[in-house]
Amino acid sequence: MSTSAELGKRRSAAVARGVSSILSSYVDHASGGTLTDVEGREWIDFASGIAVTSVGNSAPRVVEAVKRQVELFTHTCFMVTPYEGYVAVCEQLNALTPGSFDKRSALFNSGAEAVENAVKIARKATGRQAVVVFDHAYHGRTNLTMALTAKNMPYKDGFGPFAGEIYRAPMSYPFRDGGRSGEQAAAAAIDVIEKQVGGDNVAAVLIEPIQGEGGFVVPAPGFVPALAEWARANGAVFIADEIQTGFCRTGDWFASTHEGVEPDLVATAKGIAGGLPLAGVTGRAEIMEAVHPGGLGGTYGGNPIACAAGLAAIETMSELDLAAAARGIGSTMLPALRDLADRYPVIGDVRGRGAMVAIEIAKPGTFGPTVDAGSVPDPDAATTAALSKACHEAGLLTITCGTYGNVLRFLPPLVMPEDTLRKGLGILADAFAAVCG
Ligand SMILES: Cc1ncc(COP(=O)(O)O)c(C=O)c1O
Repeated sequence: MSTSAELGKRRSAAVARGVSSILSSYVDHASGGTLTDVEGREWIDFASGIAVTSVGNSAPRVVEAVKRQVELFTHTCFMVTPYEGYVAVCEQLNALTPGSFDKRSALFNSGAEAVENAVKIARKATGRQAVVVFDHAYHGRTNLTMALTAKNMPYKDGFGPFAGEIYRAPMSYPFRDGGRSGEQAAAAAIDVIEKQVGGDNVAAVLIEPIQGEGGFVVPAPGFVPALAEWARANGAVFIADEIQTGFCRTGDWFASTHEGVEPDLVATAKGIAGGLPLAGVTGRAEIMEAVHPGGLGGTYGGNPIACAAGLAAIETMSELDLAAAARGIGSTMLPALRDLADRYPVIGDVRGRGAMVAIEIAKPGTFGPTVDAGSVPDPDAATTAALSKACHEAGLLTITCGTYGNVLRFLPPLVMPEDTLRKGLGILADAFAAVCG
């Protein structure tokens, strides 16, 4: 077997450098809580392939379902000859997403593709064009979703021109907006929408109920419900991008539920299928059915193997009650991280819900009760990178995020054993002692 160093050399000669990796070690196998590289080194997995392997890597039910399906047929294209798995995944999505109204779903391959299609559907259903998105949003890397995404580097730089009719409103970001209430933050966003776009022009308001790449930003309570209400009152489609938050990650099937929000459309991907590429758009039947036959689809969308994996992953989440497991992970992690925050003044904020938690690193003295109202925390991306590196060297796989690159985010598989989780938190504490002690 090749070593990681050998594979790295082959990679440099074969793989475009635009596709980068966090670790230089090459994975050999992975389980419900650890990854092992080709040299036998093990990492505790606080990343889950960016919120994908919630049921664990190579989860037994997913492996069985995939094997069964591969032997039956691998692909027909649902648009040519349909099969039950696609229908069954749509039934599950219709049943599990918030809202008891009549729904329809369509399946795709990636989160970006789901978001693109949600926008297509909203525009067709409303006959309007404008799409409202938020500061710090991340919705993908295709042309339309780059336009929807806020952060320039590395996602957008030099890749324009971008799609039009996209408008950005301010986000509720309690650590950075002076702790505005959800209602105040929503009023500021709605003011931008009404003054700069016009309510009658808005096809869709698109938001992550908890932002992912933008920094695990948990908006103040009331912010998301107020925007959903504004969309309803103005005939716009309210789209929740639950690609990172969905499928039990935040302690419920979907994060919208925590505030009782029933989005018109929900975009899903990532955790839905245990690592196989599957994504969906689910929503109110009258909105979904506005699109003419043939208007949605794609060669691989809802591939039978991905659907089999999706059904097995959903069954695993139900039977093991992984929403409860996510809440349990949150109740272990959040106090441990708050304890670190008491000891290390670089930790500006500890936030998150369920098994989607993060710490924001900032220069001490630039935040907290002693600073002037209106001053903004000074992000410390260098310390964040040093902490992440120290974790990697000690066997804990962490990833960073945030508009300012200063957020350490934690996304363990929901099946991670408690002792592995605590061991990972111990490595994180050691990293703080080494970097910030
Ligand atoms: C909230 C959100 N939307 C969309 C996407 C894009 O998904 P994909 O990478 O599958 O295209 C992501 C991926 O990180 C995401 O977190």
